[in-house]
Amino acid sequence: MSRADLWALAGIVGVEIGREAANHDVDTGIGPLPIDFKGGRKDCPTSPYTTEMHEFPSAHMGSNQTYKYFADNFGLSMYDTVALMGAHTLGRAKKEHTGFEGTWTVSGRKIFHFDATYHHNMVVPDYGWNITNIGTDEDPKYVWKCTDLAKPETMDRDCGIMLDTDIGMLLDLTVDEKGKPTCEFFTLDQRTCKMMNWDQVYSYENFFFEDANHKFAMDFSRAFDKVISKF
Ligand code: HEM
Repeated sequence: MSRADLWALAGIVGVEIGREAANHDVDTGIGPLPIDFKGGRKDCPTSPYTTEMHEFPSAHMGSNQTYKYFADNFGLSMYDTVALMGAHTLGRAKKEHTGFEGTWTVSGRKIFHFDATYHHNMVVPDYGWNITNIGTDEDPKYVWKCTDLAKPETMDRDCGIMLDTDIGMLLDLTVDEKGKPTCEFFTLDQRTCKMMNWDQVYSYENFFFEDANHKFAMDFSRAFDKVISKF
């Protein structure tokens, strides 16, 4: 087994452990993910060392840049990319790591289940989104903060965050050079950003039907498989 194979296997195990740990207390309808390990990757000649620098993708990309990043680097379609980004249903952003802060999924649903909550949150009609720069003018960090408008103002209305690269899955988001959106989005009814992938995002929406979670899990697995199979 090559080192590259080992990293691919580690990725599969990581996702599977993540799914199992996150879903241990709830029946999401999502069982073990169908991501099979296939070997045969060739290590690069300098392995295990390299001087090449690769940066994580910027979270300040608009829709076109985000889709292009996944197409160019992993051969993913838009459909695959929308599914893969659902990994943000788990975990959080921390100011001390990246300058961003918050979790993608909170609110009425419990946090951190590996399911379709990420996609669900984007299409809830009563969720209001406010773009806020939590960084500085020199080093901006634009975060979309979610407010559950259906709840009385006296209640905790926090329903998580999204980054530009997340909102850009649903809407045709355009951003300026600092990552600030150039179109507006507050609710699905109050926006100037055009819709982009409503059908797919909405197809993962209905939390109470295991089918939607199952569909997300299948699409996510297929996309993840493509990511680790491009060699
Ligand atoms: C354009 C693509 C992406 C961008 C810009 C992005 C951005 C980020 C950022 C800023 C964080 C917060 C990190 C921190 O502050 O510690 C994060 C966390 C995370 N991302 Fe992404 N991400 C992208 C794609 C992905 C993909 C493809 C996956 C997996 C398939 C993924 C899985 C995660 C997970 C699980 C966390 C939570 C980590 C934790 O809780 O420590 N992300 N991402």
